[in-house]
Amino acid sequence: MTEWFERWFGEEYLALYPHRDEREAAAALGLVESNLGGIRVARALDLACGAGRHSRLLRDRWWTAGFDLSMPLLAKAREADPDGFYVRGDMRALPFVDHAFDLVVNLFTSFGYFDNDAQHLRVLAEVARVTRRGGKFVLDFLNSDHVRRSLVPRESSDIGGKTVEVRREISPDDRFVVKTIASGGEAGAGEQTFVERVRLFDRLDLETMLEESGFGVEQVLGDYAGAPHSESSPRTIVFAIRE
Ligand SMILES: C[S@@+](CC[C@H](N)C(=O)[O-])C[C@H]1O[C@@H](n2cnc3c(N)ncnc32)[C@H](O)[C@@H]1O
Repeated sequence: MTEWFERWFGEEYLALYPHRDEREAAAALGLVESNLGGIRVARALDLACGAGRHSRLLRDRWWTAGFDLSMPLLAKAREADPDGFYVRGDMRALPFVDHAFDLVVNLFTSFGYFDNDAQHLRVLAEVARVTRRGGKFVLDFLNSDHVRRSLVPRESSDIGGKTVEVRREISPDDRFVVKTIASGGEAGAGEQTFVERVRLFDRLDLETMLEESGFGVEQVLGDYAGAPHSESSPRTIVFAIRE
């Protein structure tokens, strides 16, 4: 069975989210860099790098691997950065040796995609395995309180001459935020529907899972400007050290 994340993260995703751009990426990486606490970084991993907007900036600072499941997004990353190192695979089984990286980043809600939490712990176990002791992991996730409170149930927009309808809901078991994206062709022909479904982990869930996986949580910030995390923050950005 094809999982929703295997279908959705392609050309349509890029077309629908043009605002997930380089400027936002620069802000996120500025925050990462200024909160590393002086650790030595030689090798970085951009876990779930998508089209590589953060990997390119990481590469200006350190040797960087970009890793993602999506062939179309990796093709974009390689096109924009022919000398970069981009690898395809699934984050539950990373094709890297133990302790390979000083810094691992997982940016812009690229976590929480699986049905079952054992799979999320599997991802964290893999991150712990490939991060050297004393290395850092930055997990930039949604803020579930903020998502629940600010959910816009329906939205319609015109993107490149196509009508895009987005529906958002909390799953009946209260565990996921589910977005259904229907992208119409011209005059309604050729409609395609995609689903995006993210587990509503709260800050405590993330901290607990990281601690169970061999990380110590150092700080949690709430936006890319570096504000402290609160219930109303747009993001939950966890800085953790591999113990
Ligand atoms: C919300 S996007 C963010 C991409 C990138 N971090 C950015 O900010 O532009 C999530 C990314 O996770 C990738 N992804 C989804 N499931 C994955 C998996 N099981 N293993 C590796 N990557 C995955 C998608 O292909 C997509 O590129």
